Amino acid sequence: MTTEQYKLMNSQIKALTEGESHWVPNMANISSVLWNTLPDINWVGFYTIENDSDGPYLLLGPFAGKPACIRLRLGKGVCSAAIRDDSPIIVPDVHQFPGHIACDSASKSEMVIPVHVNGKAVAVLDIDSPVYNRFSSTDLDELSEVVRSLEHAISK
Ligand code: SME
Repeated sequence: MTTEQYKLMNSQIKALTEGESHWVPNMANISSVLWNTLPDINWVGFYTIENDSDGPYLLLGPFAGKPACIRLRLGKGVCSAAIRDDSPIIVPDVHQFPGHIACDSASKSEMVIPVHVNGKAVAVLDIDSPVYNRFSSTDLDELSEVVRSLEHAISK
């Protein structure tokens, strides 16, 4: 994606999210825009952080792509690692990532970005690619901008 294409996508996402404060439609529309814009991806969507009697876990939220794992216990996988470190993560080859959870065997690389509300992580944006080494630092910068639009909208 060129800088111009990313700029256009990010302004579309800002326009779609800024009038709505509920996380469900915002995550749904963002998943749709990313799915229809980003080349070489096979899954894009969100997991929200929830709690039950066994502790915190990640619950499948709005997404685009094939049906995915519904609950991910914290402690295993790429999404969990991003929450544990409270930091975005790029995995160039998921087969080299200990504990990677393969919801779709087509996935070869992955990027996960935590979503915060009032300084606290509440969800992750997860993107899978059928291509090794799909995600660059430019992709991370531009998708972090997408996450900032979401955070801004749902923090209202
Ligand atoms: N690969 C993720 C699980 C979610 S699916 O990619 C949609 C992980 O290891 O946490």
